[in-house]
Amino acid sequence: MKKTFLSIALVTTLTLSTMGVQAYTQPVSAQSNVINVLDKKVINQINVENIYNTIDYLAKTPRVAATAEEYAAVLYVKQQFENYGYEAEIQPFEYLGYTAPHTVDLEIDGVSLNPLPFTYTTSGDIEADLEYVGLGRTADLVGKDLTGKIALIQRGEISFGDKVLNAANSGAAGVIIFNNAAGVINGTLGGANDRFVPAVSITQAQGQELVSKLTNGEEVSASLKVLGAESGLRTSHNVIANKKASNKNKDNGNVIVLSSHHDSVPGAPGANDNASGTAMVLELARVLKDLPTDTEIRFATFGAEELGLIGSRHYVNTLPQEELNRIVANFNLDMVGSRDAGDLVMRTVNGQPNLVTELTQASSLRLNGSPTPYAQGGSSDHVPFGEAGIPAALFIHSPLEPWYHTPEDTIDKISKEKLQDVAEIVSTAIYDYASFDNQAPKPKKLKKEKVTQQMYFEQDVQ
Ligand code: BES
Ligand code: ZN
Repeated sequence: MKKTFLSIALVTTLTLSTMGVQAYTQPVSAQSNVINVLDKKVINQINVENIYNTIDYLAKTPRVAATAEEYAAVLYVKQQFENYGYEAEIQPFEYLGYTAPHTVDLEIDGVSLNPLPFTYTTSGDIEADLEYVGLGRTADLVGKDLTGKIALIQRGEISFGDKVLNAANSGAAGVIIFNNAAGVINGTLGGANDRFVPAVSITQAQGQELVSKLTNGEEVSASLKVLGAESGLRTSHNVIANKKASNKNKDNGNVIVLSSHHDSVPGAPGANDNASGTAMVLELARVLKDLPTDTEIRFATFGAEELGLIGSRHYVNTLPQEELNRIVANFNLDMVGSRDAGDLVMRTVNGQPNLVTELTQASSLRLNGSPTPYAQGGSSDHVPFGEAGIPAALFIHSPLEPWYHTPEDTIDKISKEKLQDVAEIVSTAIYDYASFDNQAPKPKKLKKEKVTQQMYFEQDVQ
């Protein structure tokens, strides 16, 4: 009936568009650009009001990982899957979390130096004399007893974390690091460590003034306050629901994962990032529920994405290899409804096309007359799948809206047209592969994607 995959194979030439996003340039006459019966079966059932109302519900509050608000969202998602007739599983996972301090101050002679905290600093409230110890290398500290002192250290050569550990090993009660260039330090100690002491940064000018006082033999006493910083084990949760192949005899053993993240950053209601993707996963689970499929479709919403893809990494890392081998595609929805963002693009980890981009380019061509472009990148939950060699893509609008990660990421900026468009393109792409009626050859993985590790955080470590 629908020989979609044969025609996709004919269209291979790719080029870079002005946005740096790849799109087909070959004549697409070999491909179908008409909507088909299977597409209609899916599209006719999509109700964009459901997606919009779920976003409205979820985006009443931020859903920061491991908070009560994230867990309320988890319970809501699970309940909705169950309302649609699925069994849903909550998958808890632990990670080492960090809460930034609510109060940071450094006063010398009653004047505040407006310090910045290092990420992973511990809390403390210290009154002590300063001692300058250069770059804070082990060699700088030989024979020094910093007990009851605050170490003053210059930026450079070794990491902030090592400077703090070296000073703490010599007995320091706190650490001040000053910059070696203009500007402030937005730094991290690299990871939580019980041996850290309260650590803040100041500017180069402030540091040099203190150094000259100390080298002139003056005593400089400081009051350093870091309050509310805390690190420890936290628990977040993924939610997973499964649609098995409809008929055991025709089950091809393959799995498609449709995913989103349900957590948000602090202070942001995350209507677009990413109540939109989560609401769409739920609606497509409802739409696909009773459609006959020979492929398993798994719906997953992940926790703690905003802290570094922790939930999706946990999911991928804890699946047995045979289970990973069954996953032929990951469609990851993250920020799919902003009125103020650009057009829909797909992002793959290595920038190469894969089963997800091919199915989607074919469906968008049938539905809209032009294939959705793809490009490399995007830090979201498709990355752990892509790194495991699974064809995976992030669905996002580019360029991003100005409300990204702000308190302004609210329901009033959500476009029903954008939601409808993405929901149609993604659901028809999935159903094209998974439909029981579609007996065209079903490709498994195209080839193992070779992927290099990425850095997700750009905060200074030195
Ligand atoms: N929703 C975004 C996805 C995204 C992708 C935003 C590409 C901008 C560009 C996601 O939730 C996010 O904010 N990701 C973080 C990285 C993550 C690992 C903490 C980002 O891209 O800064
Ligand atoms: Zn985000």
